[in-house]
Amino acid sequence: MSASTPSLDWTVRGEPKVSGEVRVPGDKSISHRSVMLGSLAEGRSLVTGFLDGEDCLSTMRAFQAMGVRIDRSSPTSLEVHGVGLHGLSAPAQVLDVGNSGTSMRLMSGLMAAQKFESILTGDHSLSRRPMRRVTDPLSKMGARIESNEGCAPLRIFPVEGLRGIEHHSKIASAQVKSCILLAGLYAEGETTVIEPETSRDHTERMLRAFGVQVHSSPGRASLQSGQRLQAANIPVPADISSAAFFMLAAAICPGSDLMLLDVGVNPARTGVIHILRSMGAQVDLLNERSFGDEPVADIRVRSAGLKAVAVDPAYVASAIDEFPAIFIAAACAEGETVVTGAEELRVKESDRIQAMVDGLTAVGIDAVGTPDGARIVGGQIQSGEIDALGDHRIAMSFAIAALRAKGSIRVLDCANVKTSFPGFDQLAGRIGVQISV
Ligand code: S3P
Repeated sequence: MSASTPSLDWTVRGEPKVSGEVRVPGDKSISHRSVMLGSLAEGRSLVTGFLDGEDCLSTMRAFQAMGVRIDRSSPTSLEVHGVGLHGLSAPAQVLDVGNSGTSMRLMSGLMAAQKFESILTGDHSLSRRPMRRVTDPLSKMGARIESNEGCAPLRIFPVEGLRGIEHHSKIASAQVKSCILLAGLYAEGETTVIEPETSRDHTERMLRAFGVQVHSSPGRASLQSGQRLQAANIPVPADISSAAFFMLAAAICPGSDLMLLDVGVNPARTGVIHILRSMGAQVDLLNERSFGDEPVADIRVRSAGLKAVAVDPAYVASAIDEFPAIFIAAACAEGETVVTGAEELRVKESDRIQAMVDGLTAVGIDAVGTPDGARIVGGQIQSGEIDALGDHRIAMSFAIAALRAKGSIRVLDCANVKTSFPGFDQLAGRIGVQISV
């Protein structure tokens, strides 16, 4: 159980059919970036559809602590009064970003380029996650950062200047890529990141919306320093990573027909659609359009008898946050599903391979973890008790699994659902998942 959040246990009992229309909250990745880039821009940026979740609020508070005025006319509408690339001021305190890896990794790139010292800290889970993947390349750029053996807290000292680098990342990580590109805005010359697969490209798209030229091609992104950001309006689509739990619900419950509205369908995020389709779910994209530079669609999901698959490793990067949900789909599918190439799951908010395998085993499913994935044999989900380990996506996955369980599932330590999906229990209630707290 995570030490820094109080425990909240759910008892979940479902009705095995979901239908209707749902709009899940705003995209977490895009919401973080809207505050960061809005703060660095010149002028006032309007953000609508902002995710009112703890992770994005951590980012918001951090920028407020550095002198950025942010007005909220509603929980999801922000006016960010940008201070320009060189306008941040030294925070009076340590910047505590809670559970949010995106805040810590992206902000470390920005903080490394400031004229003041800063300390980035986080909760118990974040303090165990690897940070060398950002501190090593930042050090090559000339940054000075002290860490706790490669983990938070990060103490970031001011330096004379950064220099651009060409960084070859071993992993496809948008947090690493974005960290380096944000530092690159301040570095001398050109900064380039090359990765083995293309990770989500929200930073590149949004930088362009703010008037910065970014060159990108599959697996590669680069920018020149010295470019200023001009205020922009950012409409945030609904988060496909939150929609995934409802897609799962519709896919596993016979007779379901669910419409998810305004969902971001950036191709670097749609792995879950491809994987669910490969298992036999009927997933259709309707009303395809754009919110600013981000593609959006309404997603209709209808159930079908799911079949096990060997998940194509080519989809791992674009479905990285959806594997807990995909593991539940596998538990409801006929046959043995095999996931490989997904070792990054071990360093998320929890070790998601272990947490899911333990949880599935606790509810009677035959599941075995491997270093880079798992093997899961579909079967009857039984009632049982799961420890979500303070990981929002583990908690929500087992809440949905309860729709197909014989009896109820009790999910422990799920308070962190509020980091990415405030109101999950009410929205789930609207489509037939009864959650009693
Ligand atoms: C994110 C990138 C991904 C993802 C995380 C959000 C982002 O992490 O898992 O939830 O907003 O850039 P990695 O960069 O570690 O893959």
